[in-house]
Amino acid sequence: MVSTNNGEIGVGLISVGWMGKLHTRAYQALPSVYPELGLRPRLVHAADTAPDRVEYACDVLGYAQASTDYRAVLANPDVDVVSICAPTGLHREIAVAAAEANKHFWIEKPVGRDAKDAGDVAAAAAKTDVVTSIGYNYRHVPAVERVRELVAGGQLGRITNVRAVFFSGYAAEPKAALSWRFIREHAGSGALGDLLSHVVDLVQYIVGRIGDVNAVTSTVYTERPILPMGSGTHFAVIEDGEMGTVENDDYAAVLARFAATSGAAGAVGTLEASRIVVGPQCGLGFEIYGTAGSATWNFEQMNELQVCLGRGGPHAGYTTVLGNASLGDYAHFQPGPGISMGYDDLKVIEAKKFLVAVTGGERRNCTAADAHHVAEVIAAAAASAEEGTWQHVPTVPGATFGGESE
Ligand SMILES: NC(=O)c1ccc[n+]([C@@H]2O[C@H](COP(=O)([O-])OP(=O)(O)OC[C@H]3O[C@@H](n4cnc5c(N)ncnc54)[C@H](O)[C@@H]3O)[C@@H](O)[C@H]2O)c1
Repeated sequence: MVSTNNGEIGVGLISVGWMGKLHTRAYQALPSVYPELGLRPRLVHAADTAPDRVEYACDVLGYAQASTDYRAVLANPDVDVVSICAPTGLHREIAVAAAEANKHFWIEKPVGRDAKDAGDVAAAAAKTDVVTSIGYNYRHVPAVERVRELVAGGQLGRITNVRAVFFSGYAAEPKAALSWRFIREHAGSGALGDLLSHVVDLVQYIVGRIGDVNAVTSTVYTERPILPMGSGTHFAVIEDGEMGTVENDDYAAVLARFAATSGAAGAVGTLEASRIVVGPQCGLGFEIYGTAGSATWNFEQMNELQVCLGRGGPHAGYTTVLGNASLGDYAHFQPGPGISMGYDDLKVIEAKKFLVAVTGGERRNCTAADAHHVAEVIAAAAASAEEGTWQHVPTVPGATFGGESE
């Protein structure tokens, strides 16, 4: 636990890409969004292997110091907490090193390339007792928090079935760049680990533990133009570049059974993810059906929740609920109902949950054990796609589902 000096917490950042910048903005916003916490993150030390991003970290983001080697961040005694925003293939090495350096860490999803990586990170964190936080940011959407309450409170009745998808178009262009996300050494699986992991985390957060899966995967574009590490973003399109091989899946579909011991015993569902779909752009959504009601939400309309409570009556069917102060952390961001929050706000909530836990307060943070269980579901899905059989998902000690550990 960090005991702060006047609320100051020294922040280290590893990797200054999309997520690195976003974590930084979240730390910067935290004191004004949550003034009652009295926390003041101080940007101490950043690292990236790309020299222009090292400069950017100091000159634009405002870190006091920056290096090309992440070990310098972990060795800095003024760093209390570290954000790990490196490509997925580096998560294990950096997170284990952070735990060994006794630095609490906020790491991006999916926490390594596979269940082994995620398990190693969870074990290292447990051994040293550092607080962890995972970038499964869609948990924090006020509408999602509300659905979780409805399920936990029994207002939807017994949960019978779930449909959930992450349909993204970031690689819908055949000439969309071959970023690190398409290479197994750097990413592990494709749409499975990158996108379906978000879906799995969400449904486990809201409904309960997934116990068995059966899956198919496919790769639609087998070659793409190469994008050098540390340049551009994974949304880049390169017209005349050198082509390289896509090594992982563009699309994944999973049939899921929730565990008999979870709060959702008997529930089943379908989960899908695509990075090449044409139409949806960032279409992460779910439909959750119970014997007494249902709820539907999609990130593309993040501030709108469709709820149906009860089987009949004069208002049968869905009611649209807009963002308002009764939902999650909405009131911290907007003064009245119906004013939209955005993606970046979710990271501010994530930073809050992390730093509250780090300073000895309530533990609402998604943990390395939670991420390990998501990784086990993804690993079971990959094995099922390979072998064509149902796969059982092993339990992970300490993981929480619907807010409870089993
Ligand atoms: N939570 C979300 O919604 C979300 C969204 C996007 C990405 N992510 C996750 O965030 C992580 C980073 O993704 P991104 O989109 O920010 O990637 P990015 O490609 O934008 O940035 C990665 C950065 O890592 C740097 N890097 C490479 N090797 C390094 C090393 N050895 N040491 C330090 N830095 C190194 C690169 O130079 C680059 O600046 C991934 O694990 C990804 O799955 C999460």
